[in-house]
Amino acid sequence: MKFKVSVIGAGNVGATTAQRIFEKKYADVVLVDVVEDMPQGKALDILESGPVLGTDSKITGSNGYEETANSDVVIITAGIARKPGMSRDDLLLTNMKIVGSVTKEVVKHSPESIIIVVSNPLDAMVQHAYNISGFDSKRVIGMAGILDTARFSTFIAEELDVSVESVNAYVLGGHGDTMVPVIGATNVGGVPVEKMIEKNKLESIVQRTRDGGAEIVALLKTGSAFYAPSAAIVQMVEAILLDKKQILPCAVLLNGEYGFNDVYAGVPVKLGAEGIEEVIEVDLNTEEQNALSKSVDSVIELLEIMAKNANS
Ligand code: NAI
Ligand code: 2OP
Repeated sequence: MKFKVSVIGAGNVGATTAQRIFEKKYADVVLVDVVEDMPQGKALDILESGPVLGTDSKITGSNGYEETANSDVVIITAGIARKPGMSRDDLLLTNMKIVGSVTKEVVKHSPESIIIVVSNPLDAMVQHAYNISGFDSKRVIGMAGILDTARFSTFIAEELDVSVESVNAYVLGGHGDTMVPVIGATNVGGVPVEKMIEKNKLESIVQRTRDGGAEIVALLKTGSAFYAPSAAIVQMVEAILLDKKQILPCAVLLNGEYGFNDVYAGVPVKLGAEGIEEVIEVDLNTEEQNALSKSVDSVIELLEIMAKNANS
């Protein structure tokens, strides 16, 4: 039996994610967007790559949710993306309405699904989807930490001229300018990164990681990153569908872990068939814990703005 994955929002991130999942061969995919004919066109184009790639998976496009019924995993990428000069937070109120309405449809048609939220600002959007869904928080998860960590690891590997596979790193906190690349939990081939890269260079890598999304936006000019984000989403989908119980940084509802309550933020979790199966607490020094607090505070500020605009 094949799994069923629905991707809501057939823009850059959604369509690339759908393509990557289709190519994995273990899931049928439904791609949904409000733009008439566009998800159908993209799905058909991806389907027609099947004979070349040797995949018999099905992929369909739709402007409604009937075809998504009983999905195992639903990925929400619907919304607007950043343009040059915009921060992720500038997307807040527009995407809040979109993510809210999409989540209601997902709950109606796939009540047993695991939801992965991608739309920005990520931590606020995933908390909004959680509130609207009524699902257990284990089944409403945000994607950002894998992407931020991948950027951090890329820059470290480039600096040291080593394989990216030798870098073990974590970026925690909210998916914003205050995200927390955890130096103390980062090693290269088991050697602490601080011993391999001098302090100033490491600080500039940390800053480049925090600015990683903006760096791509400034280059693309018409939208934001989607190749690395879609790869990160698929890593989460695979951990869930294949019950890998992989430890990955994801945005999850914290219930006392790291000293925070009732707020979504990026931390390492065990991801498997049940969704979030465990929150992993890594040791943080005082500076890292303070940075995490600052990052969580910036998520809380967005939640407060959303609460004030809840009925607008
Ligand atoms: P995009 O503009 O290419 O695609 C968004 C799609 O959503 C559009 O096709 C649009 O028609 C669709 N849409 C809008 N309202 C909808 C609705 N009610 N129902 C269904 N579809 C709807 O944007 P892109 O680049 O795909 O990014 C999508 C979102 O993901 C953005 O908010 C972006 O900021 C965010 N993002 C988050 C990342 C993360 O690490 N969490 C990484 C990359 C992007
Ligand atoms: C990124 O970090 C836009 O959040 C997205 O690329």
